[in-house]
Amino acid sequence: MPHRPFIVGNWKMNGTRAQLAEARAIERGAARHAGVRVGVAPPFTLIAAMAEDGQAIVVGGQDCHAEERGAFTGDVSAVMLKDAGAGFTIVGHSERRAMHGESDAAVKAKAETALAAGLEVIVCVGETEAQRDSGQAEAVVSAQLDGSMPRDESAAGRVTVAYEPVWAIGTGRVPSAADVAAMHAAIRGRLGVIYGEDGAAVRILYGGSVNAGNAAELLAVTDVGGALVGGASLTADSFLSIVSAAGTSEE
Ligand code: PGA
Repeated sequence: MPHRPFIVGNWKMNGTRAQLAEARAIERGAARHAGVRVGVAPPFTLIAAMAEDGQAIVVGGQDCHAEERGAFTGDVSAVMLKDAGAGFTIVGHSERRAMHGESDAAVKAKAETALAAGLEVIVCVGETEAQRDSGQAEAVVSAQLDGSMPRDESAAGRVTVAYEPVWAIGTGRVPSAADVAAMHAAIRGRLGVIYGEDGAAVRILYGGSVNAGNAAELLAVTDVGGALVGGASLTADSFLSIVSAAGTSEE
């Protein structure tokens, strides 16, 4: 694996201030795994408190608006995330694409605004079950990359791709290691088309039902540079088991 593995928790719409105790436990555990980069994307309301709490994890947003400011009731800008202490933001999660109708172009605009605000960006892509069943998975993901990846000059150095098959998110089902390997190789190839030589350095995470039991196998797959973890990131115990599996897979 070319980079230190990156394990990112996506708390989605879960967590009030009571969850900060869990965040502190994650922080303490992460500090014991210096070989793994650990991130958590809590709800917006917890970002500032978590960012103040410690240095062993990088805190991120789950989304941002494509504009810096303005009359966009209910939205949060990348500049605000940065100001609250975030180091990165996720964009284009399949739940945003499906429930908020976000297009590839909208995702790309958000990613470019986030980079301009000084954040790193995790761009999510992934096929639905019907698309996989009809043999379209790689074509769908390639088209999402073409449409969603930011094209700023320095983008490749600060961007991460998260491959998350929609049918694997929150379902307990995961693709085979061979299918993950094939998709990550296809993504690597497409990143070369998009970024040229710089595409080789872009980290590619796997996401979708990663847990303590399957993390080691998934993280050992060629070109899997870490994981984006939903449900299993909500407790320090299960999330830190995944962090620890990433520490092992490095060697
Ligand atoms: P999950 O979610 O780990 O609960 O499947 C992953 C994600 O949506 O990022």
